[in-house]
Amino acid sequence: MKDKVLSLLSQNVGDYISGQTMCSTLGVSRTTVWKTVNALKQQGIAIEAVTKRGYCLTHLPDTLNQYRIASYGDAWTAHIKVFDTVTSTNVVAKALAQKGCEEGTIILAEQQTAGKGRLGRAWSSPAQQGIWMTVVLRPQFPPQHATGITLLAALAVRRAIASVCGISPTIKWPNDVMLSGGKVCGILTEMHAEMEQIDYVLVGIGINVNTQKEEFPSCLQDIASSILIETGKKIGRNTLIARILHEMKSLYVAYEGQLDAALLAEYYTHSNTIGRRIRVSQVGGEIIGTADGMDSRGALLVTDEKGCKHIVLSGDVSY
Ligand code: BTN
Repeated sequence: MKDKVLSLLSQNVGDYISGQTMCSTLGVSRTTVWKTVNALKQQGIAIEAVTKRGYCLTHLPDTLNQYRIASYGDAWTAHIKVFDTVTSTNVVAKALAQKGCEEGTIILAEQQTAGKGRLGRAWSSPAQQGIWMTVVLRPQFPPQHATGITLLAALAVRRAIASVCGISPTIKWPNDVMLSGGKVCGILTEMHAEMEQIDYVLVGIGINVNTQKEEFPSCLQDIASSILIETGKKIGRNTLIARILHEMKSLYVAYEGQLDAALLAEYYTHSNTIGRRIRVSQVGGEIIGTADGMDSRGALLVTDEKGCKHIVLSGDVSY
Protein backbone atom coordinates (compact mmCIF):
# COMPACT_ATOMS: atom_id res chain seq x y z
CA MET A 1 0.00 0.00 0.00
CA LYS A 2 2.90 2.38 0.76
CA ASP A 3 4.23 1.99 -2.80
CA LYS A 4 0.76 2.61 -4.25
CA VAL A 5 0.14 5.76 -2.18
CA LEU A 6 3.62 7.06 -3.03
CA SER A 7 3.12 6.31 -6.69
CA LEU A 8 -0.18 8.23 -6.77
CA LEU A 9 1.26 11.23 -4.92
CA SER A 10 4.42 11.21 -7.03
CA GLN A 11 2.39 11.68 -10.21
CA ASN A 12 1.40 15.11 -8.85
CA VAL A 13 4.43 16.37 -6.91
CA GLY A 14 3.63 19.77 -5.35
CA ASP A 15 -0.17 19.42 -5.86
CA TYR A 16 -2.78 18.37 -3.34
CA ILE A 17 -4.88 15.26 -3.93
CA SER A 18 -8.03 15.00 -1.85
CA GLY A 19 -8.43 12.13 0.60
CA GLN A 20 -11.61 11.13 -1.28
CA THR A 21 -9.77 10.91 -4.64
CA MET A 22 -7.06 8.81 -3.04
CA CYS A 23 -9.62 6.44 -1.46
CA SER A 24 -11.54 5.92 -4.70
CA THR A 25 -8.41 5.60 -6.90
CA LEU A 26 -6.82 3.06 -4.57
CA GLY A 27 -10.08 1.36 -3.52
CA VAL A 28 -9.35 1.67 0.21
CA SER A 29 -10.80 3.50 3.24
CA ARG A 30 -9.82 6.99 4.48
CA THR A 31 -8.29 5.36 7.57
CA THR A 32 -6.02 3.19 5.40
CA VAL A 33 -4.88 6.23 3.40
CA TRP A 34 -4.26 8.21 6.59
CA LYS A 35 -2.32 5.37 8.27
CA THR A 36 -0.25 4.75 5.13
CA VAL A 37 0.59 8.45 4.73
CA ASN A 38 1.72 8.55 8.38
CA ALA A 39 3.93 5.51 7.87
CA LEU A 40 5.52 7.17 4.82
CA LYS A 41 6.06 10.40 6.79
CA GLN A 42 7.79 8.39 9.53
CA GLN A 43 10.17 7.07 6.84
CA GLY A 44 11.14 10.71 6.17
CA ILE A 45 9.06 11.17 3.00
CA ALA A 46 7.93 14.80 2.63
CA ILE A 47 4.11 14.60 2.57
CA GLU A 48 1.94 17.47 3.79
CA ALA A 49 -1.63 16.82 4.97
CA VAL A 50 -4.00 19.83 5.02
CA THR A 51 -7.64 19.67 6.10
CA LYS A 52 -10.09 20.09 3.18
CA ARG A 53 -7.22 20.02 0.62
CA GLY A 54 -5.80 16.52 1.09
CA TYR A 55 -2.25 15.23 0.71
CA CYS A 56 0.72 16.64 -1.17
CA LEU A 57 4.15 15.17 -1.85
CA THR A 58 6.38 18.25 -1.66
CA HIS A 59 9.60 16.57 -2.72
CA LEU A 60 10.15 13.35 -4.63
CA PRO A 61 12.59 11.00 -2.87
CA ASP A 62 14.92 9.07 -5.15
CA THR A 63 13.91 5.66 -3.80
CA LEU A 64 13.61 2.79 -6.29
CA ASN A 65 9.92 2.12 -6.84
CA GLN A 66 8.40 -0.33 -9.32
CA TYR A 67 5.16 1.66 -9.64
CA ARG A 68 7.02 4.84 -10.48
CA ILE A 69 9.09 2.97 -13.07
CA ALA A 70 5.90 1.44 -14.49
CA SER A 71 4.16 4.82 -14.60
CA TYR A 72 6.59 6.02 -17.29
CA GLY A 73 5.27 3.75 -19.97
CA ASP A 74 5.37 0.61 -21.95
CA ALA A 75 8.52 -1.24 -20.97
CA TRP A 76 8.94 -4.55 -19.19
CA THR A 77 7.27 -3.33 -16.04
CA ALA A 78 4.98 -6.21 -15.10
CA HIS A 79 7.65 -8.18 -13.25
CA ILE A 80 9.89 -5.63 -11.53
CA LYS A 81 11.24 -6.77 -8.17
CA VAL A 82 12.92 -4.15 -5.99
CA PHE A 83 15.18 -5.22 -3.11
CA ASP A 84 16.94 -3.14 -0.52
CA THR A 85 20.14 -5.22 -0.21
CA VAL A 86 21.23 -8.25 -2.23
CA THR A 87 24.59 -9.91 -2.83
CA SER A 88 24.23 -9.41 -6.58
CA THR A 89 21.15 -8.79 -8.73
CA ASN A 90 22.56 -11.35 -11.20
CA VAL A 91 22.59 -13.98 -8.43
CA VAL A 92 18.96 -13.21 -7.48
CA ALA A 93 17.95 -13.20 -11.16
CA LYS A 94 19.67 -16.54 -11.75
CA ALA A 95 17.71 -18.18 -8.93
CA LEU A 96 14.43 -16.82 -10.35
CA ALA A 97 15.34 -17.80 -13.92
CA GLN A 98 16.09 -21.36 -12.77
CA LYS A 99 12.61 -21.47 -11.22
CA GLY A 100 11.13 -20.44 -14.58
CA CYS A 101 10.43 -16.71 -14.18
CA GLU A 102 9.12 -14.89 -17.23
CA GLU A 103 11.19 -13.07 -19.83
CA GLY A 104 11.37 -9.41 -18.90
CA THR A 105 11.67 -10.05 -15.16
CA ILE A 106 13.69 -7.15 -13.74
CA ILE A 107 15.68 -7.31 -10.49
CA LEU A 108 16.70 -4.03 -8.88
CA ALA A 109 18.51 -3.35 -5.62
CA GLU A 110 19.39 -0.23 -3.67
CA GLN A 111 22.74 -1.84 -2.89
CA GLN A 112 24.77 -4.97 -3.63
CA THR A 113 27.17 -6.47 -1.11
CA ALA A 114 28.98 -8.66 -3.67
CA GLY A 115 28.39 -6.95 -7.03
CA LYS A 116 30.05 -8.87 -9.87
CA GLY A 117 32.05 -7.30 -12.71
CA ARG A 118 33.40 -8.81 -15.92
CA LEU A 119 36.37 -11.20 -15.83
CA GLY A 120 35.81 -12.10 -12.16
CA ARG A 121 36.21 -8.55 -10.88
CA ALA A 122 34.14 -6.97 -8.10
CA TRP A 123 31.65 -4.16 -8.85
CA SER A 124 31.27 -1.40 -6.26
CA SER A 125 27.52 -0.88 -5.66
CA PRO A 126 26.89 1.55 -2.77
CA ALA A 127 23.39 2.22 -1.43
CA GLN A 128 21.10 4.65 -3.28
CA GLN A 129 23.84 5.99 -5.56
CA GLY A 130 23.41 3.92 -8.67
CA ILE A 131 21.34 1.55 -10.75
CA TRP A 132 22.12 -2.09 -10.01
CA MET A 133 19.76 -4.06 -12.24
CA THR A 134 19.43 -7.41 -14.00
CA VAL A 135 17.06 -8.18 -16.88
CA VAL A 136 16.11 -11.82 -17.52
CA LEU A 137 15.75 -12.70 -21.22
CA ARG A 138 14.76 -15.95 -22.92
CA PRO A 139 15.77 -15.50 -26.57
CA GLN A 140 14.54 -18.00 -29.15
CA PHE A 141 17.67 -17.87 -31.31
CA PRO A 142 20.65 -20.26 -30.91
CA PRO A 143 23.29 -19.60 -28.20
CA GLN A 144 26.00 -18.49 -30.66
CA HIS A 145 23.82 -15.50 -31.62
CA ALA A 146 23.54 -14.21 -28.04
CA THR A 147 26.78 -12.22 -27.99
CA GLY A 148 25.11 -9.18 -29.57
CA ILE A 149 22.63 -8.84 -26.68
CA THR A 150 25.24 -7.24 -24.48
CA LEU A 151 25.93 -4.62 -27.18
CA LEU A 152 22.20 -3.92 -27.45
CA ALA A 153 22.18 -3.27 -23.70
CA ALA A 154 25.07 -0.80 -24.05
CA LEU A 155 23.24 1.00 -26.86
CA ALA A 156 20.05 1.11 -24.75
CA VAL A 157 21.90 2.59 -21.75
CA ARG A 158 23.66 5.11 -24.01
CA ARG A 159 20.40 6.22 -25.62
CA ALA A 160 18.66 6.49 -22.25
CA ILE A 161 21.43 8.56 -20.62
CA ALA A 162 21.50 10.85 -23.68
CA SER A 163 17.74 11.49 -23.62
CA VAL A 164 17.20 11.70 -19.83
CA CYS A 165 20.44 13.51 -18.86
CA GLY A 166 21.13 15.55 -22.01
CA ILE A 167 24.72 14.32 -22.44
CA SER A 168 26.23 12.03 -25.05
CA PRO A 169 28.15 9.04 -23.64
CA THR A 170 30.49 6.94 -25.75
CA ILE A 171 30.89 3.14 -25.74
CA LYS A 172 34.18 1.35 -25.17
CA TRP A 173 34.03 -2.11 -26.77
CA PRO A 174 32.29 -4.26 -25.88
CA ASN A 175 29.93 -2.56 -23.48
CA ASP A 176 31.42 0.05 -21.15
CA VAL A 177 29.50 3.30 -21.28
CA MET A 178 31.85 6.25 -20.74
CA LEU A 179 31.63 9.97 -20.04
CA SER A 180 34.73 12.15 -20.47
CA GLY A 181 36.95 9.05 -20.37
CA GLY A 182 35.49 7.74 -17.08
CA LYS A 183 33.41 4.56 -16.89
CA VAL A 184 29.83 5.23 -15.78
CA CYS A 185 28.27 1.89 -16.73
CA GLY A 186 29.39 -1.72 -16.97
CA ILE A 187 27.37 -4.67 -18.24
CA LEU A 188 27.79 -8.30 -17.20
CA THR A 189 25.91 -10.79 -19.36
CA GLU A 190 25.58 -14.39 -18.21
CA MET A 191 23.91 -17.19 -20.14
CA HIS A 192 22.61 -20.68 -19.47
CA ALA A 193 22.07 -22.76 -22.58
CA GLU A 194 21.97 -26.26 -24.07
CA MET A 195 23.82 -26.92 -27.34
CA GLU A 196 20.96 -25.68 -29.50
CA GLN A 197 18.77 -23.62 -27.21
CA ILE A 198 19.12 -20.78 -24.72
CA ASP A 199 17.44 -21.29 -21.36
CA TYR A 200 18.06 -17.75 -20.09
CA VAL A 201 20.33 -14.74 -20.49
CA LEU A 202 20.95 -12.39 -17.55
CA VAL A 203 21.86 -8.85 -18.53
CA GLY A 204 23.36 -7.19 -15.44
CA ILE A 205 23.65 -3.42 -15.73
CA GLY A 206 25.53 -1.26 -13.24
CA ILE A 207 25.41 2.55 -13.58
CA ASN A 208 27.10 5.12 -11.35
CA VAL A 209 24.33 7.73 -11.22
CA ASN A 210 24.56 10.02 -8.19
CA THR A 211 28.02 9.13 -6.83
CA GLN A 212 30.36 11.98 -5.85
CA LYS A 213 34.04 11.59 -6.83
CA GLU A 214 35.24 11.16 -3.24
CA GLU A 215 32.61 8.46 -2.65
CA PHE A 216 34.29 6.05 -5.10
CA PRO A 217 36.87 3.68 -3.59
CA SER A 218 40.29 5.32 -4.14
CA CYS A 219 41.34 2.64 -6.66
CA LEU A 220 38.41 3.68 -8.90
CA GLN A 221 38.62 7.46 -8.57
CA ASP A 222 40.77 7.88 -11.70
CA ILE A 223 38.90 5.44 -13.94
CA ALA A 224 35.25 5.65 -12.88
CA SER A 225 32.84 8.54 -13.19
CA SER A 226 29.16 9.17 -12.57
CA ILE A 227 26.36 11.09 -14.22
CA LEU A 228 26.35 13.48 -11.25
CA ILE A 229 30.08 14.21 -11.65
CA GLU A 230 29.69 14.87 -15.38
CA THR A 231 26.49 16.95 -15.29
CA GLY A 232 26.46 18.44 -11.79
CA LYS A 233 22.84 17.26 -11.55
CA LYS A 234 21.19 14.55 -9.47
CA ILE A 235 19.20 12.28 -11.76
CA GLY A 236 16.00 10.46 -10.74
CA ARG A 237 16.91 6.81 -10.99
CA ASN A 238 13.34 5.60 -11.61
CA THR A 239 13.07 7.81 -14.72
CA LEU A 240 16.41 6.60 -16.06
CA ILE A 241 15.55 2.93 -15.40
CA ALA A 242 12.20 3.31 -17.20
CA ARG A 243 13.96 4.82 -20.22
CA ILE A 244 16.62 2.08 -20.30
CA LEU A 245 13.94 -0.63 -20.19
CA HIS A 246 11.99 1.10 -22.94
CA GLU A 247 15.07 1.33 -25.20
CA MET A 248 16.21 -2.18 -24.38
CA LYS A 249 12.88 -3.76 -25.10
CA SER A 250 12.53 -2.01 -28.44
CA LEU A 251 16.07 -3.04 -29.49
CA TYR A 252 15.61 -6.61 -28.23
CA VAL A 253 12.23 -7.35 -29.86
CA ALA A 254 13.62 -6.24 -33.24
CA TYR A 255 16.82 -8.30 -32.78
CA GLU A 256 16.99 -11.66 -34.53
CA GLY A 257 20.46 -12.69 -33.43
CA GLN A 258 22.52 -10.45 -35.75
CA LEU A 259 23.50 -6.78 -35.55
CA ASP A 260 22.15 -5.21 -38.74
CA ALA A 261 23.70 -2.27 -40.63
CA ALA A 262 21.63 0.32 -38.72
CA LEU A 263 22.70 -1.02 -35.31
CA LEU A 264 26.35 -1.25 -36.36
CA ALA A 265 26.17 2.34 -37.67
CA GLU A 266 24.69 3.56 -34.38
CA TYR A 267 27.37 1.70 -32.43
CA TYR A 268 30.21 3.07 -34.61
CA THR A 269 28.87 6.63 -34.27
CA HIS A 270 29.17 6.46 -30.50
CA SER A 271 32.13 4.09 -30.17
CA ASN A 272 35.39 5.38 -28.73
CA THR A 273 37.14 2.15 -29.87
CA ILE A 274 36.45 1.76 -33.60
CA GLY A 275 39.14 3.34 -35.78
CA ARG A 276 41.55 3.58 -32.87
CA ARG A 277 44.87 1.96 -32.05
CA ILE A 278 44.15 -0.41 -29.19
CA ARG A 279 45.56 -3.13 -26.99
CA VAL A 280 43.26 -6.13 -26.35
CA SER A 281 44.10 -8.35 -23.38
CA GLN A 282 42.70 -11.87 -23.58
CA VAL A 283 43.24 -15.07 -21.62
CA GLY A 284 45.75 -16.30 -24.23
CA GLY A 285 47.72 -13.07 -24.61
CA GLU A 286 47.56 -9.64 -26.13
CA ILE A 287 46.84 -8.08 -29.52
CA ILE A 288 48.04 -4.59 -30.41
CA GLY A 289 46.55 -3.08 -33.53
CA THR A 290 43.78 -1.00 -35.04
CA ALA A 291 40.09 -1.64 -34.36
CA ASP A 292 38.60 -1.74 -37.87
CA GLY A 293 34.98 -2.48 -36.98
CA MET A 294 32.67 -5.24 -35.74
CA ASP A 295 30.97 -8.21 -37.37
CA SER A 296 27.27 -8.98 -37.05
CA ARG A 297 27.87 -10.92 -33.79
CA GLY A 298 29.52 -7.89 -32.21
CA ALA A 299 33.03 -9.38 -32.41
CA LEU A 300 35.78 -6.75 -32.75
CA LEU A 301 37.81 -6.86 -35.98
CA VAL A 302 41.43 -5.90 -35.33
CA THR A 303 44.38 -5.60 -37.72
CA ASP A 304 47.68 -5.99 -35.89
CA GLU A 305 50.99 -4.29 -36.68
CA LYS A 306 52.02 -7.13 -39.06
CA GLY A 307 48.78 -6.77 -41.01
CA CYS A 308 47.20 -9.95 -39.55
CA LYS A 309 43.45 -9.80 -39.06
CA HIS A 310 41.92 -10.93 -35.73
CA ILE A 311 38.31 -11.57 -34.76
CA VAL A 312 38.01 -10.82 -31.03
CA LEU A 313 34.94 -12.20 -29.27
CA SER A 314 35.92 -11.18 -25.75
CA GLY A 315 38.68 -9.27 -24.04
CA ASP A 316 39.66 -6.09 -22.29
CA VAL A 317 40.46 -3.07 -24.45
CA SER A 318 42.91 -0.35 -23.41
CA TYR A 319 44.30 2.62 -25.34
C1 BTN B 1 31.82 -4.70 -15.70
O1 BTN B 1 32.77 -5.24 -15.14
O2 BTN B 1 32.01 -3.74 -16.45
C2 BTN B 1 30.42 -5.22 -15.52
C3 BTN B 1 29.76 -4.68 -14.30
C4 BTN B 1 28.33 -5.14 -14.13
C5 BTN B 1 27.73 -4.69 -12.82
C6 BTN B 1 26.28 -5.02 -12.72
S1 BTN B 1 25.50 -4.24 -11.34
C7 BTN B 1 24.06 -5.19 -11.62
C8 BTN B 1 24.51 -6.59 -11.98
N1 BTN B 1 24.76 -7.37 -10.78
C9 BTN B 1 26.04 -7.66 -10.63
O3 BTN B 1 26.52 -8.30 -9.68
N2 BTN B 1 26.74 -7.18 -11.65
C10 BTN B 1 25.92 -6.48 -12.61
